[in-house]
Amino acid sequence: MKKVAFITGILGQDGPYLAKLLLEKDYEVYGLIRRYSNPSFENLDYLGITNQVQYVEGDMTDEGSLMNIIKSIRPQEIYNLAAQSFVGSSWDQAKLTTEINSLGVLYLLNSVKFFCPLTKFYQASTSEMFGLNNDNGYQDENTAFKPRSPYAISKLYAYWMTINFRESYNIFTSNGILFNHESPLRGIQFVTRKITDGVARIKLGLTKELRLGNLDSKRDWGFAGDYVEAMYLMLQSDKPDDYVAATGENHTVREFVEEAFKAAGMTNFNQYVKIDPRYLRPAEVFELKGKADKAKKILGWQPKVGFKELIKMMVDVDLKRLKKT
Ligand code: NAP
Ligand code: GDD
Repeated sequence: MKKVAFITGILGQDGPYLAKLLLEKDYEVYGLIRRYSNPSFENLDYLGITNQVQYVEGDMTDEGSLMNIIKSIRPQEIYNLAAQSFVGSSWDQAKLTTEINSLGVLYLLNSVKFFCPLTKFYQASTSEMFGLNNDNGYQDENTAFKPRSPYAISKLYAYWMTINFRESYNIFTSNGILFNHESPLRGIQFVTRKITDGVARIKLGLTKELRLGNLDSKRDWGFAGDYVEAMYLMLQSDKPDDYVAATGENHTVREFVEEAFKAAGMTNFNQYVKIDPRYLRPAEVFELKGKADKAKKILGWQPKVGFKELIKMMVDVDLKRLKKT
């Protein structure tokens, strides 16, 4: 009998990478899609797995739909990746962000408790929860949380609820506290993909400028393909726990821009980049740098793709995509 996994957020960035990994391990993979007139399977198409996933319709804000799905497929593993994941929008859409990212997780956990309490549950927690707190120059599982956005606050509720179901009902629930991870499948609003797409457009003469916000923010950027392995390993462990996944290295947005122009064979990036106050945030998280020693030691996890390699990969794919259009 094949193991059954249920992934929410299947159409996003991480969902397709995780689905591919699980399919390669011979899992039967179900993915949650919400009702759309015209859903985009582009990211699954990119990885060539669109027809290998089974789709179930529901919404993180609709408890009944989640209960029905869990009751009917009774998966061995649930990976909850669905979220309103864009920090920048979370101030304007704080209620929606909370309904999806906080209450949605409660609904899923309740479904597990009622219908399949032996199911293992992964929650996509985030380094954003640390906010300004980097007293040691890094953040790990022992760092206190100090969230700075409605997104981070909504994720903190989900983090604690995930732990509470472990402690109250003995359900196997684990939080992955993942630092930023990127790929050619990254949504265009996020800074890395916005930069690699923008650089490719400038290189091909399709636009003349790249408008950005705070260039001094520092992020610990890894490759999404490496981070879904950490998610998988967390649910294969003997006991549930919470783990940081990070590269341990951070860079400013400015450094990312510079490297992306270099990857496209251009050096004069200053003439193209314009600071646009629309992309500044009401409260910024200035610096994130993770220490993933626990995941390395207990799970044997290790990120493989480095900063420059990641940028080159993203720029090359964006150049190819745009040349085709
Ligand atoms: P993403 O690309 O934004 O994907 C999120 C997915 O959630 C989308 O497929 C979206 O569906 C789905 N979704 C949103 N609202 C929903 C709803 N009401 N019902 C059902 N599905 C809904 O995010 P990602 O980068 O893959 O990240 C995966 C998870 O990890 C997220 O929870 C994110 O917050 C968390 N995380 C990400 C990072 C990172 O650096 N990428 C780091 C730490 C934590 P549609 O396609 O229909 O919009
Ligand atoms: N999006 C965006 N657009 N960000 C910009 C821009 C811009 O034009 N200019 C500068 N930035 C800065 C942001 O202010 C932030 O400091 C940094 O670039 C990264 O922004 P994002 O790429 O939007 O990611 P994020 O760090 O806010 O959030 C991502 O990582 C979290 C984990 O730390 C998302 O994937 C979250 O869902 C995830 O939890």
